[in-house]
Amino acid sequence: MAIMANLSFDQFQKLNQQIYQKLGLHFDEKKLYFVKSRVAKRMAALCMDDPQDYIFMISYADPDGVEMQALANLITTNETYMFREYDQLQAFANYCLPEILSAKQAKGERTLRIWSAGCSSGEEAYTLAMIVQEVFPQVQTWDCEIWATDIDENMLRKVAAARYGARSVHDVPEEFRAKYLVPSGEDWVVRQRTAAMVHVRHLNLSDRIAMRTMRDFDFIFCRNVLIYFDDTSRKAVVDHFYNSLARGGYIFLGHSESIGRVTPAFRLKRFDNHLVYVKD
Ligand SMILES: C[S@@+](CC[C@H](N)C(=O)[O-])C[C@H]1O[C@@H](n2cnc3c(N)ncnc32)[C@H](O)[C@@H]1O
Repeated sequence: MAIMANLSFDQFQKLNQQIYQKLGLHFDEKKLYFVKSRVAKRMAALCMDDPQDYIFMISYADPDGVEMQALANLITTNETYMFREYDQLQAFANYCLPEILSAKQAKGERTLRIWSAGCSSGEEAYTLAMIVQEVFPQVQTWDCEIWATDIDENMLRKVAAARYGARSVHDVPEEFRAKYLVPSGEDWVVRQRTAAMVHVRHLNLSDRIAMRTMRDFDFIFCRNVLIYFDDTSRKAVVDHFYNSLARGGYIFLGHSESIGRVTPAFRLKRFDNHLVYVKD
């Protein structure tokens, strides 16, 4: 049975406020049990008995955000797998990527920048690296960078290891699996050439200063991340994405996510059944 911190509702709300301010994540009352169990883990690690002490610490005695980071590693939802939302990836492979590549070739440019924002353990970033090579094998002679960023440090270690279990690779089409992955015991390892295309970075999407360093991207994938944000924090992130994208660049969100309500800055484009946002 999970150990619960004895958080009162008032304390839960205070903690929530801190989480919201620093991470942009919003937990409603239905998540009380979840937050209590995660806080209990942190309190045990810190040998604390009183939730009040924990809330004081995270509010006033965590100047470098070390404790908030430790909590963030426990409260984020990291579900992901390769070739997730395959139909949407087909829109990327069949329409958006060729369009951007042709425009670059016409201008004599040989750079391609893609960002998997909220990458979790990295399956999305490696999926994109596989697709790019498949659609455009010459990419190996280009300056192509795929950035995989997340707030959860445990996940970033997994991205760097590029080693995945059966659950992560179950939707990888057979021809991709043979070409881009190598079996290793029960796991699969991303082949070196593909792994080398992915750059790993710790980044909090709610950190205004860090977000300003992400520039000139042709594609941003931020799928199944903004569902954990409320409209205000979602708008702040999306405004940063706007500045991070080059003109003509695309942003891909998860199926159930929409940013039309929070900003009119992007134009919605339909490819087959898929809606993507473009920066004109
Ligand atoms: C459900 S996963 C999505 C993974 C992948 N994009 C996908 O669609 O399969 C959500 C990820 O968002 C990350 N995340 C949540 N809040 C974040 C924040 N403020 N900054 C950066 N990453 C965040 C979590 O750590 C988690 O790994």
